[in-house]
Amino acid sequence: MPAVPTTTSQRAAALRDALARAQHEYYVLDQPVLSDQEYDRLFRELQTLEQAYPALRTEDSPTQRVGAPVQSAFRTHRHLVRMLSLDNAFDQAELVAFEQSIERIVGDAVHRSGYTVELKIDGAAIALTYRDGVLATAATRGDGTEGEDVTLNVRTIRGVPLRLLGDDVPPLLEVRGEVYLPFTGFEQMNEARVAAGEPVYVNPRNAAAGSMRQLDPSITAARPLRFFGYAAVLPDGTAPARTQWELLERLMAWGVPVAPHRARCHTIADVGRWADTIEHQTRAALGFAIDGGVVKVNDIALQDELGVRNDRTPRWAVARKFAPDMAVTRLEQIDVSIGRTGVVTPFAVLAPVDVGGATVTYASLHNADQIAAKDLRVGDIVQVVRAGDVIPYVLGPVPERRDGSEQRWQLPAVCPRCGTTIVRYRDDVASYCPNVACPGRQLEGLVHFASKEALDIDGLSYARIQQLLAAGYVHDVADLFDVSVAQLVALERFGTKSAENLVAAIAAAKQQPLSRLLFGLGIRHVGAQAAQLLARQFGTRDALMAATPAQLGEVRGIGEIMATSVAGYFADPTARALIERLRACGLRFDEPNAVQADGPLTGATVVLTGSLPTLSRGEATALVEQAGGRVTSGVSRKTTFVVAGEEAGSKLDKAVALGVEVIDEAELRRRVSGT
Ligand code: IVH
Repeated sequence: MPAVPTTTSQRAAALRDALARAQHEYYVLDQPVLSDQEYDRLFRELQTLEQAYPALRTEDSPTQRVGAPVQSAFRTHRHLVRMLSLDNAFDQAELVAFEQSIERIVGDAVHRSGYTVELKIDGAAIALTYRDGVLATAATRGDGTEGEDVTLNVRTIRGVPLRLLGDDVPPLLEVRGEVYLPFTGFEQMNEARVAAGEPVYVNPRNAAAGSMRQLDPSITAARPLRFFGYAAVLPDGTAPARTQWELLERLMAWGVPVAPHRARCHTIADVGRWADTIEHQTRAALGFAIDGGVVKVNDIALQDELGVRNDRTPRWAVARKFAPDMAVTRLEQIDVSIGRTGVVTPFAVLAPVDVGGATVTYASLHNADQIAAKDLRVGDIVQVVRAGDVIPYVLGPVPERRDGSEQRWQLPAVCPRCGTTIVRYRDDVASYCPNVACPGRQLEGLVHFASKEALDIDGLSYARIQQLLAAGYVHDVADLFDVSVAQLVALERFGTKSAENLVAAIAAAKQQPLSRLLFGLGIRHVGAQAAQLLARQFGTRDALMAATPAQLGEVRGIGEIMATSVAGYFADPTARALIERLRACGLRFDEPNAVQADGPLTGATVVLTGSLPTLSRGEATALVEQAGGRVTSGVSRKTTFVVAGEEAGSKLDKAVALGVEVIDEAELRRRVSGT
């Protein structure tokens, strides 16, 4: 193995620290300081160093989360201290009974202690053993005494610290908590499973538990799992804190994510109020599943005095369970909606049902394959969940409740809005209405064009667009610019003032930059960010329309699929005619922050290292890019020059070794200004 130069090993340690700190800021403090790009750049630098010098690759390096081999079975793991479960309280009366049972043993002391209350995360319980602060093993709960060793899987979970922070970490410590899957991740994962022809998971808890038991850690790594800690024990069974509240604070200081919305409550009445707020207000917006709150006597000495019942449940804690945010109801009908690109999306029409406090009547069914994979039939009794703020979701049918009258469903052969034959392209799960003049598509296309991220037309709501279409004033986005005040005041719910305001807002949108227009046109695969990359790179509509697919694909961040789609769009005579009409309406067709095609740094490859006196990394990158240059992370012979600031590390050494020019911030400023 090559000997590691001191500066390089120092740099690797600094990178490991910076990455661990960034993860802590992201997962524990919920205050990201590094951008994703900056994080990736540091991560890649560390990877490069570790490839060059394998001796640098430590167990706790953030690069070492993935890549472990497939196992044939899990080993058994004996827990340091038994993992308990909780008794339930379903209402305030049962919480009061819980407090009374405590008072009978310790009297008034419980009132001096009070309670710590936490969310009860609906995931899979896990115990993490840290030796000298480094994650050594991770085990499932199992029967409470013995679980399965799932260390390789747990190492892949972002947010589980591979090394605890701080210099007060006990030599041997077991951290306990819950592995869970946020709703968005759950939906994405199920969609991928449907696409791969695999059965879907019925809820995020099963998905989390199933993910822990994958023998191939790369499968677990691909799932967006998260972790919250709620307890810690020392080998002698004691806790490393005086109170539960303090324990949670220590966990956070060590870098362990702790669930939000925890609180300290003085009385059991306060506990009840907290639980009501969580159940009826907080829960719907959380983004992950909870099945209740956990109430814990705050004083740990008092917890020890109260002890454990039947070696199974503590007397000092109780789960205040909530009504499930899942319900069963009848699937009355399956309808389809038509999106702006023509995508046909089936949705469920349900017998109205209360799900976690809201009435649900419609739920998306995504696509025909999902309906087939779940074997949903019209007339089925189905399970419905409301996944946080996410739209309601049909988990699947309850086959036991079928009576034989249920009907299998098929995608309609023609578009219900315009009667055009529906098509399905090879390798695509979606089906489309190919008619660009379909009224369903026109409506969604106009809504998209007016939306915040596109032309941002104030006051042009969904309902108003429906009115304009129904009146025959508009068919496509170019027609908007011809709508007059006189036309609008003839419509219902329009006064002179609101009509004037809307016409002014539409006129103002003509000044929006090319990137927004590009996004607003709704070209397949082109999101807001891609539209910005393209507009910045090409600067004007004409340059963009003249670009070949190969030139489009050369833009960083633009892949082949996107490049083909953009080129295809601009080659389409209908699209060209629309753009010509938009130009005639006076729309702006350039990008103010465009890269200079013949800028002072055109063709230059620049590497930034160390901290510059006045520019942040992002600002320096923007300067270079606007001058036509490109910023890369690694120094090579192809690097044009390196901009070095204070505490520049291995990149500087490498530049010097390769004879690449090194300059400072002042010189960079001179070069980008072309002087
Ligand atoms: S405390 C004695 N706190 O709920 C303490 N458990 O039956 C036992 N859970 O599977 C656990 N969130 O994994 C505790 N904030 C929380 C929790 C929590 C979820 C799970 C736990 C166990 C079940 C308890």
